[in-house]
Amino acid sequence: MALLEIREVMVRFGGVMAVGGVDLDVQAGEITGLIGPNGAGKTTLFNVISGMQDPTAGMISVNGVDISHESPHRRAKRGLARTFQRLELFASLTVRDNVRVAAELASLTNIDSTVDRLLEKVGVSHLADKTAGELPTGSARLVEIARALATGPELLLLDEPASGLDESESDRLGTLLRELTEDGLGVLLVEHDMSLVMRVCDSIYVLDLGMIIAHGTPEYIQHDPQVLQAYLGAPS
Ligand SMILES: Nc1ncnc2c1ncn2[C@@H]1O[C@H](COP(=O)(O)OP(=O)(O)O)[C@@H](O)[C@H]1O
Ligand SMILES: [Mg+2]
Repeated sequence: MALLEIREVMVRFGGVMAVGGVDLDVQAGEITGLIGPNGAGKTTLFNVISGMQDPTAGMISVNGVDISHESPHRRAKRGLARTFQRLELFASLTVRDNVRVAAELASLTNIDSTVDRLLEKVGVSHLADKTAGELPTGSARLVEIARALATGPELLLLDEPASGLDESESDRLGTLLRELTEDGLGVLLVEHDMSLVMRVCDSIYVLDLGMIIAHGTPEYIQHDPQVLQAYLGAPS
Protein backbone atom coordinates (compact mmCIF):
# COMPACT_ATOMS: atom_id res chain seq x y z
CA MET A 1 0.00 0.00 0.00
CA ALA A 2 1.36 3.41 -1.00
CA LEU A 3 1.09 6.51 1.18
CA LEU A 4 -1.00 8.21 -1.51
CA GLU A 5 -2.99 6.28 -4.10
CA ILE A 6 -4.81 8.03 -6.93
CA ARG A 7 -7.11 5.83 -8.96
CA GLU A 8 -8.81 6.75 -12.25
CA VAL A 9 -9.20 10.37 -11.22
CA MET A 10 -10.99 12.50 -13.76
CA VAL A 11 -11.77 16.24 -13.70
CA ARG A 12 -13.91 17.89 -16.33
CA PHE A 13 -14.45 21.67 -16.56
CA GLY A 14 -17.37 22.00 -18.94
CA GLY A 15 -16.00 20.76 -22.23
CA VAL A 16 -12.38 20.61 -21.00
CA MET A 17 -11.09 17.28 -19.67
CA ALA A 18 -8.35 18.71 -17.40
CA VAL A 19 -7.51 15.32 -15.86
CA GLY A 20 -8.52 12.32 -17.91
CA GLY A 21 -8.31 9.26 -15.69
CA VAL A 22 -5.05 9.31 -13.72
CA ASP A 23 -3.47 6.54 -11.62
CA LEU A 24 -0.54 7.62 -9.45
CA ASP A 25 1.21 6.42 -6.27
CA VAL A 26 3.43 8.28 -3.81
CA GLN A 27 5.48 6.15 -1.42
CA ALA A 28 6.48 7.29 2.08
CA GLY A 29 10.11 8.42 2.17
CA GLU A 30 10.24 9.10 -1.57
CA ILE A 31 10.04 12.07 -3.90
CA THR A 32 7.66 11.48 -6.78
CA GLY A 33 7.86 13.94 -9.66
CA LEU A 34 4.90 15.08 -11.72
CA ILE A 35 5.96 16.88 -14.87
CA GLY A 36 4.23 17.98 -18.05
CA PRO A 37 3.63 21.07 -20.21
CA ASN A 38 1.50 24.01 -19.08
CA GLY A 39 -2.17 23.08 -19.06
CA ALA A 40 -1.39 19.36 -18.60
CA GLY A 41 -3.55 19.21 -15.45
CA LYS A 42 -0.88 19.18 -12.71
CA THR A 43 -2.34 21.93 -10.52
CA THR A 44 -5.86 20.57 -11.01
CA LEU A 45 -4.66 17.19 -9.76
CA PHE A 46 -3.12 18.90 -6.70
CA ASN A 47 -6.42 20.65 -6.05
CA VAL A 48 -8.22 17.32 -6.18
CA ILE A 49 -5.73 15.67 -3.81
CA SER A 50 -5.93 18.51 -1.29
CA GLY A 51 -9.74 18.67 -1.49
CA MET A 52 -10.08 22.08 -3.12
CA GLN A 53 -11.60 20.58 -6.27
CA ASP A 54 -14.09 17.71 -6.51
CA PRO A 55 -13.12 15.06 -9.03
CA THR A 56 -15.69 14.20 -11.70
CA ALA A 57 -14.79 10.56 -11.02
CA GLY A 58 -12.14 8.46 -9.31
CA MET A 59 -10.72 7.76 -5.85
CA ILE A 60 -7.92 9.07 -3.65
CA SER A 61 -6.61 7.32 -0.56
CA VAL A 62 -4.01 8.14 2.09
CA ASN A 63 -2.61 5.21 4.07
CA GLY A 64 -5.39 3.05 2.64
CA VAL A 65 -8.23 5.35 3.73
CA ASP A 66 -10.51 6.76 1.03
CA ILE A 67 -10.37 10.55 1.48
CA SER A 68 -12.11 11.47 -1.79
CA HIS A 69 -15.08 13.08 -0.08
CA GLU A 70 -13.33 14.68 2.89
CA SER A 71 -12.92 18.44 3.44
CA PRO A 72 -9.50 20.08 2.92
CA HIS A 73 -9.30 20.54 6.70
CA ARG A 74 -9.92 16.84 7.37
CA ARG A 75 -7.28 15.89 4.81
CA ALA A 76 -4.80 18.23 6.49
CA LYS A 77 -5.52 16.42 9.76
CA ARG A 78 -4.66 13.16 8.01
CA GLY A 79 -1.22 14.52 7.19
CA LEU A 80 -1.61 16.24 3.84
CA ALA A 81 0.04 19.63 3.21
CA ARG A 82 0.67 21.66 0.08
CA THR A 83 2.28 24.79 -1.30
CA PHE A 84 0.89 26.91 -4.10
CA GLN A 85 2.17 27.73 -7.57
CA ARG A 86 1.19 31.34 -6.85
CA LEU A 87 2.59 32.07 -3.42
CA GLU A 88 -0.06 32.39 -0.72
CA LEU A 89 1.76 33.68 2.34
CA PHE A 90 0.11 36.28 4.59
CA ALA A 91 1.95 39.32 3.22
CA SER A 92 1.57 41.55 6.29
CA LEU A 93 2.69 38.91 8.83
CA THR A 94 6.30 38.15 9.66
CA VAL A 95 7.96 35.00 8.43
CA ARG A 96 7.81 33.54 11.94
CA ASP A 97 4.10 34.31 12.31
CA ASN A 98 3.27 32.78 8.93
CA VAL A 99 4.75 29.51 10.13
CA ARG A 100 3.29 29.91 13.62
CA VAL A 101 -0.28 30.31 12.30
CA ALA A 102 -0.03 26.93 10.59
CA ALA A 103 1.45 25.26 13.67
CA GLU A 104 -1.38 26.68 15.78
CA LEU A 105 -4.05 25.50 13.32
CA ALA A 106 -2.56 22.03 13.51
CA SER A 107 -2.70 22.25 17.33
CA LEU A 108 0.94 21.29 17.66
CA THR A 109 2.54 21.37 21.09
CA ASN A 110 5.84 23.21 21.71
CA ILE A 111 4.91 25.74 19.05
CA ASP A 112 7.84 28.12 19.66
CA SER A 113 10.50 25.46 19.38
CA THR A 114 8.77 23.81 16.40
CA VAL A 115 8.61 27.09 14.50
CA ASP A 116 12.29 27.84 15.23
CA ARG A 117 13.32 24.35 14.18
CA LEU A 118 11.42 24.61 10.86
CA LEU A 119 12.82 28.06 10.03
CA GLU A 120 16.27 26.64 10.70
CA LYS A 121 15.59 23.51 8.65
CA VAL A 122 14.58 25.41 5.49
CA GLY A 123 17.35 27.97 6.03
CA VAL A 124 15.38 31.17 6.70
CA SER A 125 16.06 31.75 10.43
CA HIS A 126 17.78 35.05 9.62
CA LEU A 127 14.53 36.28 8.00
CA ALA A 128 12.23 35.34 10.90
CA ASP A 129 11.22 38.92 11.77
CA LYS A 130 10.88 40.20 8.21
CA THR A 131 7.42 40.83 6.79
CA ALA A 132 6.56 38.08 4.31
CA GLY A 133 5.46 40.61 1.70
CA GLU A 134 9.01 42.02 1.47
CA LEU A 135 10.71 38.72 0.73
CA PRO A 136 12.28 37.89 -2.60
CA THR A 137 10.55 34.95 -4.32
CA GLY A 138 13.26 32.42 -3.45
CA SER A 139 12.97 33.05 0.28
CA ALA A 140 9.17 33.23 0.16
CA ARG A 141 9.03 29.76 -1.42
CA LEU A 142 11.17 28.36 1.40
CA VAL A 143 8.88 29.98 3.97
CA GLU A 144 5.89 28.37 2.25
CA ILE A 145 7.57 25.01 2.66
CA ALA A 146 8.25 25.72 6.35
CA ARG A 147 4.61 26.68 6.77
CA ALA A 148 3.45 23.47 5.09
CA LEU A 149 5.77 21.45 7.34
CA ALA A 150 4.38 23.20 10.42
CA THR A 151 1.21 21.12 10.15
CA GLY A 152 3.33 17.97 10.68
CA PRO A 153 2.49 16.35 7.33
CA GLU A 154 3.14 12.82 6.11
CA LEU A 155 2.61 13.90 2.52
CA LEU A 156 3.78 17.20 1.05
CA LEU A 157 2.51 18.48 -2.30
CA LEU A 158 4.81 21.09 -3.88
CA ASP A 159 3.56 23.08 -6.87
CA GLU A 160 6.58 24.52 -8.72
CA PRO A 161 8.67 25.29 -5.62
CA ALA A 162 11.76 26.20 -7.66
CA SER A 163 10.01 28.75 -9.83
CA GLY A 164 11.73 32.10 -9.30
CA LEU A 165 14.73 30.49 -7.56
CA ASP A 166 18.28 30.92 -8.83
CA GLU A 167 20.56 27.93 -9.38
CA SER A 168 22.09 27.87 -5.91
CA GLU A 169 18.68 28.30 -4.25
CA SER A 170 17.21 25.41 -6.21
CA ASP A 171 20.28 23.30 -5.31
CA ARG A 172 19.59 23.99 -1.66
CA LEU A 173 15.92 23.19 -2.16
CA GLY A 174 16.92 19.82 -3.63
CA THR A 175 19.09 19.04 -0.61
CA LEU A 176 16.28 20.07 1.74
CA LEU A 177 13.76 17.82 -0.02
CA ARG A 178 16.10 14.82 0.23
CA GLU A 179 16.60 15.49 3.96
CA LEU A 180 12.85 15.66 4.52
CA THR A 181 12.27 12.31 2.86
CA GLU A 182 14.98 10.71 4.99
CA ASP A 183 12.65 11.42 7.91
CA GLY A 184 9.91 9.46 6.11
CA LEU A 185 7.96 12.26 4.44
CA GLY A 186 6.41 11.49 1.04
CA VAL A 187 6.68 14.31 -1.51
CA LEU A 188 4.77 14.89 -4.73
CA LEU A 189 6.74 17.46 -6.71
CA VAL A 190 5.38 19.45 -9.65
CA GLU A 191 8.32 21.28 -11.16
CA HIS A 192 9.58 22.69 -14.47
CA ASP A 193 13.24 22.80 -13.41
CA MET A 194 14.28 19.54 -15.06
CA SER A 195 17.73 19.38 -13.54
CA LEU A 196 16.17 19.54 -10.06
CA VAL A 197 13.49 16.98 -10.93
CA MET A 198 15.97 14.53 -12.43
CA ARG A 199 18.36 14.94 -9.50
CA VAL A 200 15.96 14.48 -6.58
CA CYS A 201 13.07 12.27 -7.73
CA ASP A 202 12.83 8.55 -7.03
CA SER A 203 10.22 8.18 -9.74
CA ILE A 204 8.51 10.50 -12.20
CA TYR A 205 5.11 10.62 -13.86
CA VAL A 206 4.64 12.57 -17.08
CA LEU A 207 1.24 14.17 -17.59
CA ASP A 208 0.17 15.45 -21.00
CA LEU A 209 -3.34 16.72 -21.78
CA GLY A 210 -4.64 15.15 -18.59
CA MET A 211 -3.20 11.68 -19.23
CA ILE A 212 -0.14 9.94 -17.74
CA ILE A 213 2.00 9.18 -20.79
CA ALA A 214 5.01 7.77 -18.95
CA HIS A 215 6.13 6.65 -15.49
CA GLY A 216 9.53 5.51 -14.34
CA THR A 217 12.90 6.40 -12.92
CA PRO A 218 14.52 9.72 -13.91
CA GLU A 219 16.93 7.72 -16.08
CA TYR A 220 14.04 6.00 -17.89
CA ILE A 221 11.99 9.19 -18.32
CA GLN A 222 14.90 11.09 -19.84
CA HIS A 223 15.18 8.51 -22.59
CA ASP A 224 11.50 7.80 -23.30
CA PRO A 225 10.85 8.95 -26.88
CA GLN A 226 7.21 9.86 -26.19
CA VAL A 227 8.27 12.09 -23.29
CA LEU A 228 10.99 13.76 -25.31
CA GLN A 229 8.49 14.53 -28.00
CA ALA A 230 5.65 15.69 -25.72
CA TYR A 231 7.67 17.66 -23.27
CA LEU A 232 11.39 17.69 -22.79
CA GLY A 233 12.14 18.62 -26.40
CA ALA A 234 9.49 21.30 -26.58
CA PRO A 235 10.50 24.91 -25.91
CA SER A 236 9.01 26.10 -22.61
N1 LIG B 1 -11.17 26.34 -12.60
C1 LIG B 1 -11.05 26.02 -13.90
N2 LIG B 1 -12.07 26.18 -14.77
C2 LIG B 1 -11.93 25.83 -16.06
N3 LIG B 1 -10.83 25.29 -16.60
C3 LIG B 1 -9.78 25.12 -15.79
C4 LIG B 1 -9.82 25.46 -14.40
N4 LIG B 1 -8.62 25.15 -13.83
C5 LIG B 1 -7.87 24.64 -14.82
N5 LIG B 1 -8.56 24.62 -16.00
C6 LIG B 1 -8.06 24.07 -17.28
O1 LIG B 1 -7.63 22.75 -17.02
C7 LIG B 1 -6.44 22.45 -17.75
C8 LIG B 1 -5.35 22.07 -16.79
O2 LIG B 1 -4.90 23.21 -16.06
P1 LIG B 1 -3.85 23.12 -14.87
O3 LIG B 1 -4.26 22.05 -13.95
O4 LIG B 1 -3.69 24.49 -14.32
O5 LIG B 1 -2.52 22.67 -15.64
P2 LIG B 1 -0.98 22.75 -15.20
O6 LIG B 1 -0.90 23.01 -13.74
O7 LIG B 1 -0.42 21.43 -15.61
O8 LIG B 1 -0.38 23.86 -16.02
C9 LIG B 1 -6.14 23.69 -18.58
O9 LIG B 1 -6.74 23.51 -19.85
C10 LIG B 1 -6.83 24.79 -17.81
O10 LIG B 1 -7.17 25.86 -18.65
MG1 LIG C 1 0.07 24.47 -12.65
